[in-house]
Amino acid sequence: MLDPLKTWKLFLVSTITLKPLDLLLFLLKTTLVILTVASISLFFHFAFSNQYVRFSSPIFNNNQHQKFIAVNSSSSGQVYGRTNLSNVLFGIGGSAKTWNDRRHYSQLWWRPNVTRGFVWLDEIPPGAGEELQPTSPPYKISEDTSRFKYTCWYGSRSAVRMARIVKESFELGLDNVRWFVLGDDDTLFFLENLLTVLNKYDHNQMYYVGGNSESVEQDVIHSYNMAYGGGGFAVSYALAAELVKVLDGCIDRYASFYGSDQKVQACMSEIGIPVTKELGFHQVDIRGNPYGLLAAHPLAPLVSLHHLDYVQPIFPGMTQIESLKKLTTAYEMDPSRALQQSFCYDLKRNRSISVSWGYTVQLYPYIVTAKKLETAFSTFQSWKTWQNGPFTFNTRPVEEDPCARPLSYFLDHAESVDGNRTRTRYARHVEESGKECDKPDYARASGVKFVGVSSAKLNPAIWSMAPRRQCCEVISGGEGADHLVQVKIRGCHRFETVTPP
Ligand SMILES: *[C@@H]1O[C@H](CO)[C@@H](O)[C@H](O)[C@H]1NC(C)=O
Ligand SMILES: *[C@@H]1O[C@H](CO)[C@@H](O)[C@H](O)[C@H]1NC(C)=O
Ligand SMILES: *[C@@H]1O[C@H](CO)[C@@H](O)[C@H](O)[C@H]1NC(C)=O
Ligand SMILES: *[C@@H]1O[C@H](CO)[C@@H](O)[C@H](O)[C@H]1NC(C)=O
Ligand SMILES: *[C@@H]1O[C@H](CO)[C@@H](O)[C@H](O)[C@H]1NC(C)=O
Repeated sequence: MLDPLKTWKLFLVSTITLKPLDLLLFLLKTTLVILTVASISLFFHFAFSNQYVRFSSPIFNNNQHQKFIAVNSSSSGQVYGRTNLSNVLFGIGGSAKTWNDRRHYSQLWWRPNVTRGFVWLDEIPPGAGEELQPTSPPYKISEDTSRFKYTCWYGSRSAVRMARIVKESFELGLDNVRWFVLGDDDTLFFLENLLTVLNKYDHNQMYYVGGNSESVEQDVIHSYNMAYGGGGFAVSYALAAELVKVLDGCIDRYASFYGSDQKVQACMSEIGIPVTKELGFHQVDIRGNPYGLLAAHPLAPLVSLHHLDYVQPIFPGMTQIESLKKLTTAYEMDPSRALQQSFCYDLKRNRSISVSWGYTVQLYPYIVTAKKLETAFSTFQSWKTWQNGPFTFNTRPVEEDPCARPLSYFLDHAESVDGNRTRTRYARHVEESGKECDKPDYARASGVKFVGVSSAKLNPAIWSMAPRRQCCEVISGGEGADHLVQVKIRGCHRFETVTPP
């Protein structure tokens, strides 16, 4: 930067040796420089003080204003409306061999004539003639990838084909695409919540949005910086446009990498784009019973579930597909609230209640701290080594002693009320091992056969604000003939906390 004082000194020194005409010219030039410097510093002063006033003003400093900016204007100054499903192109990785067994997962979330995209297969699947039934994504056959290198000895070459789905999707050149969303043929997407999450980000900027593996051993081997492909991830149009230029090169350069998601991430690393982690994408790299994970979901909209053939059905006594259909019926009534946890105490009866909306309720005949209630029960093991952890979140053990476990309830009914509220009911589930606690508090609590939960539908706009778990209160204690505990979920009052007496 030019320092006005130095320029002035320079001027004084040089005038000594200059002719009159030169002097006049030099004088003019120098004045110009000084004026420019002065106006630049004035501009900076104005801009910064203006910004300071703007950001500290309570009128502007609210979430609505921030949301308005996020939704309407982009870095390029363009104005655009909300992203809807017509702006999303799905690229599902599949194979002819697995497609017929796995298409029922896609059928759970695919909306014919609404969702756009393709499942990418290696060859024409058996029974392709019936393909005209439009209940699952149409298929496309991937380009030949035999010219690419793949050297991971324990992996499968198909990773190359999968990695190129984003490129082949981009090169279709379809109109109005803002986001490419990649997933596997056994990924279940929750579309409203996917849109809620995508609408937090500007597709004209370069975004790579997804989540990690739950199993630390996986993140250590593959990467913490990667969006796991099975949980699904989203690439903004602006990023896809750069990615496709380098992708084929990356595939050869990172030939030793196991997975397609890893090869894509290596390219992101070359472009310089980190993953934006969203906690609702679930790779489900776990074994056993996913109950603990789903009963203590992080405070984020549920976006995806994966690996559902590798874990036990999420509802007892049902197949996985039946289970997911059940979860989906509740989900559809209030997408933003699906699996959202709320907990409250019944101080009169010395009980704690934890609700994972649309899925399960836990009733403890004693007081449990919020800190404990938000920690997932370790009902599952790690992906590769089937150990009790570590995971990328904390877990707590399921106690052997039945007196140290909650009574559990599973969703058995969900209904919409007045269009803007829901009522869900959860029925007591007794484990087959059948060992029950015989303490009096416990015996009284086990008279509770159902838990009913009422709540207003959760406005998706809350997901663009600072997150806070919602509060609940116990309306009735379950002594009636219906054996029903009634709980109401609502936004917390100011200064309300879940604090033991
Ligand atoms: C900004 O977006 C909102 C919601 O999509 C819309 O109602 C509003 O008219 C938009 N404003 C402008 C200036 O485009
Ligand atoms: C979705 O957004 C596009 C703009 O990209 C708009 O033209 C279309 O009408 C919207 N569709 C729905 C169903 O809102
Ligand atoms: C989808 O669109 C096609 C052609 O526009 C139409 O023939 C078909 O009935 C539609 N399917 C559904 C389920 O709406
Ligand atoms: C409530 O439970 C706690 C243990 O969590 C116990 O210490 C306390 O005595 C109980 N209070 C009543 C009134 O039952
Ligand atoms: C919910 O719907 C009912 C009936 O349609 C209406 O009376 C009530 O005002 C609505 N409440 C809110 C918060 O929108």
